[in-house]
Amino acid sequence: MSEPPDDLELRVVTDKTELCRIMLASWGSHSMMIDLHVYDVAEIDALGLFESSGATAALASWTARGDTAYLCALHSLRPGEGVAIRMLDAVIEAARATGAKKLKAMLTNDNMPGMTFYQRRGFRLSGLYLEAIDAYRSVVPTIIKTGYRDIPIHDALELEIAL
Ligand SMILES: CC(C)(COP(=O)(O)OP(=O)(O)OC[C@H]1O[C@@H](n2cnc3c(N)ncnc32)[C@H](O)[C@@H]1OP(=O)(O)O)[C@@H](O)C(=O)NCCC(=O)NCCS
Repeated sequence: MSEPPDDLELRVVTDKTELCRIMLASWGSHSMMIDLHVYDVAEIDALGLFESSGATAALASWTARGDTAYLCALHSLRPGEGVAIRMLDAVIEAARATGAKKLKAMLTNDNMPGMTFYQRRGFRLSGLYLEAIDAYRSVVPTIIKTGYRDIPIHDALELEIAL
């Protein structure tokens, strides 16, 4: 298991410019559909891990609705160093503090690293929405068409963990 670095500062992110830029580059939109709702990461809560130089190590976007929290985006800028694990732990802590009882995440069908990441952290599969991304792309045409290792993106997989 990767060891989370301890030299990073956790901060609430209010300026979502960098997060939106990363989302646009990697996903084609800064909105994300999860549990059949659309969330704009420019509008919901965000957390970040930052190096002492100010450089960003990881960013996460999340929100809570009822007893469920939603992890709408998680991006590591230092792959393989444990920063995404630390970022996820921070979101779990923040979601618990709102009283949420579970945390849901959405992955596209190509995202094998994400599948490994979340299941290694204890998430279980909770939903499969066939062709959900194709439907979303018909509304937001900029959504990417291929992802990890050029796998065509069609479907949404949801995972959840009890808090
Ligand atoms: C998935 C992602 C967040 C992982 O970030 P990371 O900083 O590399 O992850 P960490 O170093 O904190 O954690 C490593 C764990 O992630 C998983 N992982 C990361 N990259 C992986 C890869 N290429 N293949 C398989 N598993 C991978 C592993 O479970 C690994 O832990 P383990 O070695 O103990 O099994 C990162 O690849 C990313 O930003 N992807 C693009 C955005 C995205 O898909 N986010 C998730 C959906 S919102």
